[in-house]
Amino acid sequence: MDLSFLDRVLQIVKDERKKDVPLVRFKHPEELEAILDLDIGQEVNDDDLERCVRQVLQYSVKTDKATFKNQLYGCTDPYGLAGAWIAEAFNTSQYTFEVAPVFTLIELKVLNHILNLFGIPNGDGIFSPGGSVSMLYALVAARFKAFPEVKRKGMRNLPEMVIFTSEDSHYSIRKAAHWLGFGTESLRPIKANEHGQMIVSELEKAIEREKKENRYPVLVNATAGTTVLGAIDDLNDIANVCKKHGVWMHVDACWGGSLMLSPKYRSKLLGVKRADSISWNPHKMAGAPLQCSVFLIKERGLLHEANSAAAQYLFQQDKFYDVSYDTGDKSVQCGRKIDAFKLWMMWKSRGDIGLSVLTDKVMSIAQFCLSATSKMEGFRLVSEKLQCPNVCFWYIPKFMRNKDENEEWWDLMHKITPKIKEQLTLTSKLMVAYSPLRQHKNFFRLAFTFHPELNENQVIEMLNAVKLSGEAITKEMFP
Ligand SMILES: Cc1ncc(COP(=O)(O)O)c(C=O)c1O
Repeated sequence: MDLSFLDRVLQIVKDERKKDVPLVRFKHPEELEAILDLDIGQEVNDDDLERCVRQVLQYSVKTDKATFKNQLYGCTDPYGLAGAWIAEAFNTSQYTFEVAPVFTLIELKVLNHILNLFGIPNGDGIFSPGGSVSMLYALVAARFKAFPEVKRKGMRNLPEMVIFTSEDSHYSIRKAAHWLGFGTESLRPIKANEHGQMIVSELEKAIEREKKENRYPVLVNATAGTTVLGAIDDLNDIANVCKKHGVWMHVDACWGGSLMLSPKYRSKLLGVKRADSISWNPHKMAGAPLQCSVFLIKERGLLHEANSAAAQYLFQQDKFYDVSYDTGDKSVQCGRKIDAFKLWMMWKSRGDIGLSVLTDKVMSIAQFCLSATSKMEGFRLVSEKLQCPNVCFWYIPKFMRNKDENEEWWDLMHKITPKIKEQLTLTSKLMVAYSPLRQHKNFFRLAFTFHPELNENQVIEMLNAVKLSGEAITKEMFP
């Protein structure tokens, strides 16, 4: 097979990573359609294909830039990227030892390392396609543990089940509740405090209320690193409540789980080892290429019991090797990417220490950003507490300052924040997230990731870009 086109692709990627390449050349869908030749009916030769690929990437967002702060992921770790490339080139599926002998050992090795890191050395785990799927795993495991007959008989004859989660938790739990047949009305949102942490006394009251009503509390979802504020729930207190009431405790550490990599910041997740299950997305803060998500479970064997279907054509028990290494039946997937390999490449090259240094650096630049934001004129922090590397703030343009901050004023701020974001994107200065949250009107979220490593000047430049765009906004823009 001729692989020479890959050499051209590597060159294109290198070119698109040059310093002067803009973060984004934003075009609306119809403009893009007009510029690009995306039709696939007619074949093209390699030169034309190269031109097409260059064009596609030209108009794609450069997530490797420091100014890509739109999501909870960013530039990939270069070793992880190499691993991703190898994974694609070898086109391996992770289900059996037979087709993935070394990658099976690698997944087990990486999982064991992570289980030790999270303090559940005797647990089990699986790589899943993302945090949302890991949430499905958690609910399936909790429900199966409580009612093993669910696997054969489904939900009929089971008591009504309820799920507890903080009002600031990720929306994937709503999807999971729907997909698994609990229904979204089975969710019990628990109030969060001003820093975004679940109020544990409210959780306990809610559990007691539901028990009195004869509903079965099947799972408490604690969050270590909420999507917007980066809040870390009090995992020890939640574990106490779960233990007292016999409820499965899941920790969604998709974002904040990366702090476990650093001895300095690990204590923020104190109590995580008491969870029944945990999810962590190395593809977020740590820079593993998408997708790379880990689901961990304390009770060994349960994952297999809950998910196995024992397909005879794939998981034959009379194979010529030790079939306990055919780990794929723990998964809900059949074909499964070798996501562990990307993380293994990163970990192998950097070691525990290298990853902990990156964690410390990301927290220290976020801390710098938090202090800088608190001091700069016109900026106002949503929360002054740094839990994960999230810094959330409003920018108040001069014409809005020193006015009565009444409802009308806040309604205008709600419109100003997205307008500033629009300007920042169209000028390719910065792609930044914004969101409302509970009583708060739209504000910005800067979330920092391991790569690329930022210096203080780059942070100040970003804040100045927000300020410049903010000052270009006038009241007249909002009729
Ligand atoms: C706290 C949290 N949990 C879960 C998820 C879902 O992860 P994924 O995007 O991998 O499905 C996210 C996504 O941002 C998140 O912020």
